[in-house]
Amino acid sequence: MTVTLVPSLPTLVTPSRPDPLGVLGVPGEINLDYAASAPCARAASDAVAELLPWYASVHRGAGALSRRCTLAYERARQTVGDFLGARPDDHVIFTRNTTDAVNLLARALPAGTTVVTFAGEHHANLLPWPRGSVRLPVPDSTGGAVRSLDAALGELSRDARPGLPVLVAVTGASNVTGERWPVAELARVARRHGARILVDAAQLAPHAPVDLAALDVDYLALSGHKLYAPFGAGVLVGRADWLDAAPPYLAGGGATSHVGAGTHEVRWATGPARHEAGTPNLLGAVALAAVCAALAAADRDALHAREQALLARLRAGLAALPHVVELRTFGPDAPRVGIVSFVVAGRDSGDVAAHLATAHRIGVRDGLFCAHPLARRLLTEAATRSGRRDLPATALRASLGLGTTESDVDTLLTALATLP
Ligand SMILES: Cc1ncc(COP(=O)(O)O)c(C=O)c1O
Repeated sequence: MTVTLVPSLPTLVTPSRPDPLGVLGVPGEINLDYAASAPCARAASDAVAELLPWYASVHRGAGALSRRCTLAYERARQTVGDFLGARPDDHVIFTRNTTDAVNLLARALPAGTTVVTFAGEHHANLLPWPRGSVRLPVPDSTGGAVRSLDAALGELSRDARPGLPVLVAVTGASNVTGERWPVAELARVARRHGARILVDAAQLAPHAPVDLAALDVDYLALSGHKLYAPFGAGVLVGRADWLDAAPPYLAGGGATSHVGAGTHEVRWATGPARHEAGTPNLLGAVALAAVCAALAAADRDALHAREQALLARLRAGLAALPHVVELRTFGPDAPRVGIVSFVVAGRDSGDVAAHLATAHRIGVRDGLFCAHPLARRLLTEAATRSGRRDLPATALRASLGLGTTESDVDTLLTALATLP
Protein backbone atom coordinates (compact mmCIF):
# COMPACT_ATOMS: atom_id res chain seq x y z
CA MET A 1 0.00 0.00 0.00
CA THR A 2 1.31 3.47 -0.85
CA VAL A 3 0.85 6.09 1.81
CA THR A 4 1.15 9.74 0.76
CA LEU A 5 2.74 11.62 3.62
CA VAL A 6 2.89 15.02 1.98
CA PRO A 7 0.73 16.39 -0.80
CA SER A 8 2.57 16.81 -4.09
CA LEU A 9 3.90 20.31 -4.55
CA PRO A 10 3.68 22.23 -7.81
CA THR A 11 6.82 22.38 -9.90
CA LEU A 12 8.94 25.45 -9.32
CA VAL A 13 9.03 27.81 -12.24
CA THR A 14 10.43 31.23 -12.91
CA PRO A 15 7.39 33.45 -13.41
CA SER A 16 7.58 35.95 -16.24
CA ARG A 17 7.97 39.00 -14.05
CA PRO A 18 10.03 42.12 -14.65
CA ASP A 19 12.94 41.28 -12.39
CA PRO A 20 16.53 40.77 -13.52
CA LEU A 21 17.27 38.16 -10.86
CA GLY A 22 14.46 35.89 -12.01
CA VAL A 23 13.32 35.01 -8.50
CA LEU A 24 11.62 31.64 -8.24
CA GLY A 25 8.07 31.16 -7.14
CA VAL A 26 5.01 28.99 -7.41
CA PRO A 27 2.26 30.11 -9.81
CA GLY A 28 -0.85 31.14 -7.92
CA GLU A 29 0.92 31.60 -4.58
CA ILE A 30 1.25 35.28 -3.66
CA ASN A 31 4.28 35.76 -1.47
CA LEU A 32 4.18 39.05 0.40
CA ASP A 33 6.54 37.94 3.15
CA TYR A 34 9.92 38.83 1.70
CA ALA A 35 11.10 40.49 4.91
CA ALA A 36 11.03 37.13 6.68
CA SER A 37 12.70 35.15 3.89
CA ALA A 38 12.86 36.32 0.28
CA PRO A 39 12.37 33.85 -2.56
CA CYS A 40 15.41 32.34 -4.22
CA ALA A 41 17.07 34.18 -7.10
CA ARG A 42 17.77 32.17 -10.22
CA ALA A 43 21.41 33.36 -9.94
CA ALA A 44 21.70 31.68 -6.53
CA SER A 45 20.14 28.40 -7.58
CA ASP A 46 22.20 28.32 -10.80
CA ALA A 47 25.44 28.97 -8.92
CA VAL A 48 24.66 26.16 -6.49
CA ALA A 49 23.64 23.75 -9.27
CA GLU A 50 26.83 24.49 -11.19
CA LEU A 51 29.07 23.87 -8.21
CA LEU A 52 27.29 20.80 -6.85
CA PRO A 53 29.06 18.21 -9.05
CA TRP A 54 32.33 19.62 -7.76
CA TYR A 55 31.23 19.72 -4.16
CA ALA A 56 34.09 18.76 -1.85
CA SER A 57 35.92 20.11 1.19
CA VAL A 58 36.98 23.73 1.59
CA HIS A 59 40.51 24.57 2.86
CA ARG A 60 41.04 20.90 3.61
CA GLY A 61 41.93 18.97 0.48
CA ALA A 62 44.60 18.76 -2.21
CA GLY A 63 42.35 17.22 -4.86
CA ALA A 64 41.04 19.14 -7.83
CA LEU A 65 37.51 19.22 -6.44
CA SER A 66 38.68 20.59 -3.11
CA ARG A 67 40.86 23.18 -4.73
CA ARG A 68 37.99 24.37 -6.88
CA CYS A 69 35.69 24.57 -3.85
CA THR A 70 38.26 26.47 -1.82
CA LEU A 71 38.69 28.92 -4.66
CA ALA A 72 34.92 29.31 -5.03
CA TYR A 73 34.56 30.00 -1.30
CA GLU A 74 37.32 32.62 -1.22
CA ARG A 75 36.02 34.23 -4.43
CA ALA A 76 32.60 34.41 -2.81
CA ARG A 77 34.16 36.24 0.13
CA GLN A 78 35.75 38.75 -2.24
CA THR A 79 32.52 39.27 -4.22
CA VAL A 80 30.40 39.80 -1.10
CA GLY A 81 32.99 42.19 0.37
CA ASP A 82 33.18 44.18 -2.87
CA PHE A 83 29.38 44.34 -3.10
CA LEU A 84 29.20 45.78 0.42
CA GLY A 85 32.03 48.27 -0.06
CA ALA A 86 34.42 46.52 2.35
CA ARG A 87 37.73 48.34 2.85
CA PRO A 88 40.88 46.38 1.92
CA ASP A 89 41.69 45.56 5.54
CA ASP A 90 38.14 44.68 6.62
CA HIS A 91 37.28 41.07 7.40
CA VAL A 92 34.43 39.37 5.58
CA ILE A 93 33.28 36.53 7.82
CA PHE A 94 30.62 34.10 6.68
CA THR A 95 28.01 33.36 9.33
CA ARG A 96 24.64 31.61 9.36
CA ASN A 97 22.56 34.79 9.24
CA THR A 98 22.32 38.28 10.73
CA THR A 99 21.62 36.96 14.22
CA ASP A 100 24.79 34.90 14.06
CA ALA A 101 26.78 37.86 12.72
CA VAL A 102 25.63 40.20 15.49
CA ASN A 103 26.31 37.55 18.14
CA LEU A 104 29.78 37.10 16.71
CA LEU A 105 30.51 40.79 17.02
CA ALA A 106 29.02 40.84 20.52
CA ARG A 107 31.53 38.17 21.55
CA ALA A 108 34.37 40.11 19.96
CA LEU A 109 33.82 43.38 21.83
CA PRO A 110 36.86 44.53 23.77
CA ALA A 111 36.37 44.40 27.54
CA GLY A 112 34.44 47.37 28.87
CA THR A 113 32.73 48.24 25.58
CA THR A 114 29.43 50.06 25.96
CA VAL A 115 26.89 49.28 23.25
CA VAL A 116 24.26 51.86 22.37
CA THR A 117 21.11 50.76 20.54
CA PHE A 118 17.59 52.07 20.04
CA ALA A 119 14.52 50.23 21.30
CA GLY A 120 13.36 50.09 17.66
CA GLU A 121 15.70 47.24 16.82
CA HIS A 122 14.95 43.64 15.87
CA HIS A 123 15.72 41.25 18.75
CA ALA A 124 18.84 40.15 16.85
CA ASN A 125 20.25 43.62 17.49
CA LEU A 126 18.93 43.98 21.04
CA LEU A 127 19.53 40.71 22.83
CA PRO A 128 23.16 39.76 22.04
CA TRP A 129 24.64 42.86 23.68
CA PRO A 130 26.22 42.70 27.14
CA ARG A 131 24.61 43.96 30.33
CA GLY A 132 25.17 47.65 30.78
CA SER A 133 24.30 48.42 27.18
CA VAL A 134 22.35 51.61 26.60
CA ARG A 135 18.94 51.29 24.93
CA LEU A 136 17.68 54.65 23.68
CA PRO A 137 13.94 55.20 23.34
CA VAL A 138 12.37 54.86 19.89
CA PRO A 139 12.65 58.34 18.31
CA ASP A 140 9.73 59.86 16.43
CA SER A 141 11.81 61.21 13.55
CA THR A 142 15.12 60.50 11.86
CA GLY A 143 16.38 63.85 13.14
CA GLY A 144 15.29 62.79 16.62
CA ALA A 145 17.37 59.61 16.28
CA VAL A 146 20.47 61.62 15.38
CA ARG A 147 19.95 64.10 18.23
CA SER A 148 19.26 61.38 20.75
CA LEU A 149 22.41 59.46 19.77
CA ASP A 150 24.47 62.64 19.88
CA ALA A 151 23.24 63.41 23.38
CA ALA A 152 23.75 59.84 24.62
CA LEU A 153 27.29 59.62 23.25
CA GLY A 154 28.11 63.04 24.67
CA GLU A 155 26.94 61.90 28.08
CA LEU A 156 28.83 58.63 27.81
CA SER A 157 32.07 60.35 26.95
CA ARG A 158 31.68 62.55 30.03
CA ASP A 159 30.62 59.76 32.38
CA ALA A 160 32.17 56.54 31.10
CA ARG A 161 35.69 55.56 31.92
CA PRO A 162 37.80 57.39 29.32
CA GLY A 163 39.32 55.33 26.56
CA LEU A 164 36.82 52.49 26.79
CA PRO A 165 35.20 51.63 23.46
CA VAL A 166 31.63 52.44 22.49
CA LEU A 167 29.72 50.64 19.74
CA VAL A 168 26.51 52.03 18.25
CA ALA A 169 24.32 49.28 16.77
CA VAL A 170 21.47 50.37 14.50
CA THR A 171 19.29 48.98 11.78
CA GLY A 172 19.47 50.23 8.20
CA ALA A 173 15.73 49.69 7.68
CA SER A 174 13.10 48.58 10.16
CA ASN A 175 11.67 45.10 9.74
CA VAL A 176 8.41 46.39 11.21
CA THR A 177 7.78 49.60 9.30
CA GLY A 178 10.28 49.44 6.46
CA GLU A 179 11.41 52.93 7.44
CA ARG A 180 15.03 53.70 6.69
CA TRP A 181 17.21 54.86 9.53
CA PRO A 182 19.64 57.74 8.90
CA VAL A 183 22.69 55.53 8.87
CA ALA A 184 25.17 57.97 7.35
CA GLU A 185 24.22 60.71 9.84
CA LEU A 186 24.34 58.30 12.78
CA ALA A 187 27.77 57.12 11.59
CA ARG A 188 28.98 60.73 11.49
CA VAL A 189 27.75 61.30 15.05
CA ALA A 190 29.41 58.07 16.22
CA ARG A 191 32.65 59.07 14.55
CA ARG A 192 32.58 62.53 16.13
CA HIS A 193 32.36 60.92 19.56
CA GLY A 194 35.03 58.32 18.81
CA ALA A 195 32.50 55.46 18.78
CA ARG A 196 32.20 52.64 16.25
CA ILE A 197 28.99 51.71 14.47
CA LEU A 198 27.39 48.45 13.32
CA VAL A 199 24.60 48.55 10.76
CA ASP A 200 22.13 45.69 10.74
CA ALA A 201 21.51 45.63 7.00
CA ALA A 202 19.23 42.57 7.01
CA GLN A 203 16.30 44.60 5.65
CA LEU A 204 18.16 47.39 3.88
CA ALA A 205 20.53 45.41 1.65
CA PRO A 206 17.77 43.58 -0.28
CA HIS A 207 16.29 46.93 -1.31
CA ALA A 208 19.13 49.43 -1.68
CA PRO A 209 22.90 49.49 -2.22
CA VAL A 210 24.84 49.52 1.06
CA ASP A 211 28.47 50.57 1.04
CA LEU A 212 30.51 50.37 4.24
CA ALA A 213 33.25 52.67 3.09
CA ALA A 214 30.90 55.31 1.65
CA LEU A 215 28.73 55.29 4.76
CA ASP A 216 31.81 55.24 6.97
CA VAL A 217 30.35 52.37 8.94
CA ASP A 218 32.59 50.00 10.91
CA TYR A 219 30.58 46.76 10.74
CA LEU A 220 27.71 45.45 8.73
CA ALA A 221 25.61 42.30 9.12
CA LEU A 222 23.11 40.67 6.78
CA SER A 223 21.35 37.41 5.95
CA GLY A 224 21.53 35.62 2.60
CA HIS A 225 17.99 34.28 2.91
CA LYS A 226 16.59 37.82 2.95
CA LEU A 227 18.76 38.68 -0.07
CA TYR A 228 17.37 36.02 -2.43
CA ALA A 229 20.11 33.51 -1.45
CA PRO A 230 18.42 30.97 0.83
CA PHE A 231 21.28 28.55 1.37
CA GLY A 232 22.04 29.27 5.01
CA ALA A 233 24.77 31.90 4.85
CA GLY A 234 24.98 35.42 6.23
CA VAL A 235 27.91 37.72 6.71
CA LEU A 236 29.66 40.03 9.14
CA VAL A 237 31.93 42.55 7.45
CA GLY A 238 34.09 45.08 9.20
CA ARG A 239 37.17 46.26 11.05
CA ALA A 240 39.79 43.59 11.62
CA ASP A 241 41.33 44.68 14.93
CA TRP A 242 38.61 43.68 17.41
CA LEU A 243 37.89 40.53 15.46
CA ASP A 244 41.53 39.44 15.40
CA ALA A 245 41.98 40.15 19.09
CA ALA A 246 38.83 38.34 20.22
CA PRO A 247 38.55 34.70 21.26
CA PRO A 248 37.33 32.62 18.33
CA TYR A 249 33.56 32.56 17.98
CA LEU A 250 33.74 28.79 17.60
CA ALA A 251 36.75 26.79 18.75
CA GLY A 252 37.80 24.01 16.42
CA GLY A 253 39.49 22.96 13.21
CA GLY A 254 40.38 25.65 10.72
CA ALA A 255 40.54 28.42 13.33
CA THR A 256 44.04 27.62 14.57
CA SER A 257 47.56 28.24 13.35
CA HIS A 258 49.16 25.85 15.85
CA VAL A 259 47.89 23.33 18.40
CA GLY A 260 50.40 21.81 20.81
CA ALA A 261 50.21 18.79 23.09
CA GLY A 262 49.03 20.71 26.15
CA THR A 263 45.29 21.15 26.58
CA HIS A 264 45.39 24.88 26.15
CA GLU A 265 48.44 25.14 23.93
CA VAL A 266 46.86 26.75 20.91
CA ARG A 267 47.55 29.70 18.69
CA TRP A 268 44.44 30.96 16.97
CA ALA A 269 44.52 32.11 13.38
CA THR A 270 43.82 35.72 12.52
CA GLY A 271 41.57 36.79 9.68
CA PRO A 272 38.12 35.35 8.92
CA ALA A 273 39.35 31.82 9.67
CA ARG A 274 39.56 32.69 13.38
CA HIS A 275 35.78 32.85 13.57
CA GLU A 276 34.86 30.24 10.96
CA ALA A 277 35.94 27.00 12.65
CA GLY A 278 34.56 23.79 11.19
CA THR A 279 33.67 23.03 7.60
CA PRO A 280 32.14 26.19 6.13
CA ASN A 281 28.85 26.58 4.29
CA LEU A 282 30.30 26.67 0.79
CA LEU A 283 26.99 26.57 -1.05
CA GLY A 284 25.54 29.34 1.11
CA ALA A 285 28.54 31.57 0.48
CA VAL A 286 28.51 30.89 -3.27
CA ALA A 287 24.76 31.54 -3.52
CA LEU A 288 25.09 34.80 -1.60
CA ALA A 289 27.96 35.91 -3.82
CA ALA A 290 26.00 35.04 -6.97
CA VAL A 291 23.15 37.30 -5.88
CA CYS A 292 25.57 40.08 -4.94
CA ALA A 293 27.12 39.85 -8.41
CA ALA A 294 23.70 39.84 -10.10
CA LEU A 295 22.53 42.84 -8.09
CA ALA A 296 25.80 44.69 -8.75
CA ALA A 297 25.17 44.26 -12.47
CA ALA A 298 21.50 45.29 -12.28
CA ASP A 299 20.08 48.78 -12.68
CA ARG A 300 19.36 49.33 -9.01
CA ASP A 301 17.83 52.75 -9.56
CA ALA A 302 15.23 51.15 -11.81
CA LEU A 303 14.61 48.35 -9.31
CA HIS A 304 14.22 50.89 -6.54
CA ALA A 305 11.79 52.99 -8.58
CA ARG A 306 9.69 49.93 -9.39
CA GLU A 307 9.59 48.81 -5.78
CA GLN A 308 8.69 52.29 -4.57
CA ALA A 309 5.80 52.41 -7.05
CA LEU A 310 4.48 49.07 -5.72
CA LEU A 311 4.93 50.25 -2.14
CA ALA A 312 3.09 53.50 -2.83
CA ARG A 313 0.25 51.52 -4.42
CA LEU A 314 0.06 49.24 -1.40
CA ARG A 315 0.17 52.06 1.16
CA ALA A 316 -2.38 54.16 -0.72
CA GLY A 317 -4.66 51.14 -0.96
CA LEU A 318 -4.32 50.41 2.75
CA ALA A 319 -4.92 54.06 3.64
CA ALA A 320 -8.17 53.93 1.66
CA LEU A 321 -9.50 51.06 3.79
CA PRO A 322 -11.32 52.62 6.73
CA HIS A 323 -10.71 49.67 9.06
CA VAL A 324 -6.96 49.45 8.41
CA VAL A 325 -4.31 51.41 10.34
CA GLU A 326 -0.65 51.48 9.32
CA LEU A 327 2.17 51.25 11.89
CA ARG A 328 4.92 53.81 11.61
CA THR A 329 7.70 55.37 13.62
CA PHE A 330 8.82 58.43 11.69
CA GLY A 331 5.72 59.67 9.94
CA PRO A 332 3.92 58.96 6.68
CA ASP A 333 6.52 60.38 4.30
CA ALA A 334 9.73 58.97 5.76
CA PRO A 335 11.83 57.03 3.22
CA ARG A 336 11.15 53.32 3.47
CA VAL A 337 11.75 49.97 1.81
CA GLY A 338 9.05 47.57 0.64
CA ILE A 339 7.65 46.64 4.05
CA VAL A 340 4.34 47.75 5.60
CA SER A 341 2.85 46.69 8.92
CA PHE A 342 -0.76 47.37 9.73
CA VAL A 343 -3.72 46.25 11.77
CA VAL A 344 -7.31 45.56 10.82
CA ALA A 345 -9.49 47.14 13.50
CA GLY A 346 -11.64 44.66 15.36
CA ARG A 347 -9.84 41.67 13.83
CA ASP A 348 -7.28 39.33 15.30
CA SER A 349 -4.17 39.58 13.11
CA GLY A 350 -3.54 35.83 13.22
CA ASP A 351 -7.06 35.18 11.97
CA VAL A 352 -6.66 37.68 9.15
CA ALA A 353 -3.34 36.15 8.09
CA ALA A 354 -4.87 32.67 8.11
CA HIS A 355 -7.83 33.86 6.05
CA LEU A 356 -5.53 35.53 3.48
CA ALA A 357 -3.61 32.28 3.17
CA THR A 358 -6.53 29.91 2.87
CA ALA A 359 -9.01 32.01 0.92
CA HIS A 360 -6.61 33.97 -1.30
CA ARG A 361 -3.27 32.10 -1.28
CA ILE A 362 -1.54 35.21 0.03
CA GLY A 363 1.35 34.80 2.46
CA VAL A 364 1.92 37.62 4.95
CA ARG A 365 3.35 37.64 8.46
CA ASP A 366 1.50 38.37 11.67
CA GLY A 367 2.73 38.93 15.22
CA LEU A 368 5.22 41.32 16.76
CA PHE A 369 7.96 40.51 14.24
CA CYS A 370 10.79 39.75 16.71
CA ALA A 371 10.80 43.44 17.58
CA HIS A 372 8.49 43.37 20.58
CA PRO A 373 9.41 46.70 22.20
CA LEU A 374 8.96 48.55 18.90
CA ALA A 375 5.85 46.73 17.70
CA ARG A 376 4.06 47.25 21.04
CA ARG A 377 4.90 50.91 21.06
CA LEU A 378 3.70 51.35 17.48
CA LEU A 379 0.45 49.52 18.19
CA THR A 380 -0.20 51.93 21.06
CA GLU A 381 0.67 54.88 18.82
CA ALA A 382 -1.62 53.56 16.06
CA ALA A 383 -4.51 53.36 18.54
CA THR A 384 -3.92 56.95 19.64
CA ARG A 385 -3.54 58.27 16.10
CA SER A 386 -6.60 56.48 14.75
CA GLY A 387 -8.69 57.04 17.86
CA ARG A 388 -9.80 53.40 17.61
CA ARG A 389 -10.15 51.29 20.72
CA ASP A 390 -10.58 48.00 18.87
CA LEU A 391 -7.07 47.48 17.47
CA PRO A 392 -5.64 43.98 18.03
CA ALA A 393 -2.57 43.27 20.15
CA THR A 394 -0.46 42.09 17.22
CA ALA A 395 -0.03 43.27 13.64
CA LEU A 396 0.14 42.09 10.04
CA ARG A 397 3.08 42.72 7.76
CA ALA A 398 3.21 42.72 3.97
CA SER A 399 6.67 42.88 2.42
CA LEU A 400 7.69 42.83 -1.20
CA GLY A 401 10.65 42.91 -3.54
CA LEU A 402 11.88 41.52 -6.84
CA GLY A 403 9.17 39.44 -8.47
CA THR A 404 6.27 41.20 -6.75
CA THR A 405 3.62 42.46 -9.17
CA GLU A 406 0.86 45.05 -9.09
CA SER A 407 -1.56 42.19 -9.25
CA ASP A 408 -0.09 40.72 -6.02
CA VAL A 409 -0.63 44.06 -4.29
CA ASP A 410 -4.14 44.51 -5.68
CA THR A 411 -5.15 40.99 -4.68
CA LEU A 412 -4.12 41.71 -1.10
CA LEU A 413 -5.99 45.01 -1.08
CA THR A 414 -9.15 43.40 -2.47
CA ALA A 415 -8.91 40.58 0.06
CA LEU A 416 -8.61 43.07 2.93
CA ALA A 417 -11.47 45.15 1.58
CA THR A 418 -13.74 42.09 1.43
CA LEU A 419 -12.85 40.34 4.69
CA PRO A 420 -15.87 38.27 5.71
C1 LIG B 1 16.27 44.01 10.86
C2 LIG B 1 16.55 42.56 11.13
N1 LIG B 1 17.67 42.25 11.76
C3 LIG B 1 17.99 40.98 12.02
C4 LIG B 1 17.17 39.95 11.65
C5 LIG B 1 17.56 38.55 11.96
O1 LIG B 1 17.79 37.88 10.76
P1 LIG B 1 18.03 36.32 10.75
O2 LIG B 1 16.79 35.70 11.28
O3 LIG B 1 18.28 36.01 9.33
O4 LIG B 1 19.20 36.08 11.61
C6 LIG B 1 15.99 40.22 11.01
C7 LIG B 1 15.06 39.14 10.64
O5 LIG B 1 13.91 39.33 10.36
C8 LIG B 1 15.67 41.57 10.73
O6 LIG B 1 14.54 41.90 10.10
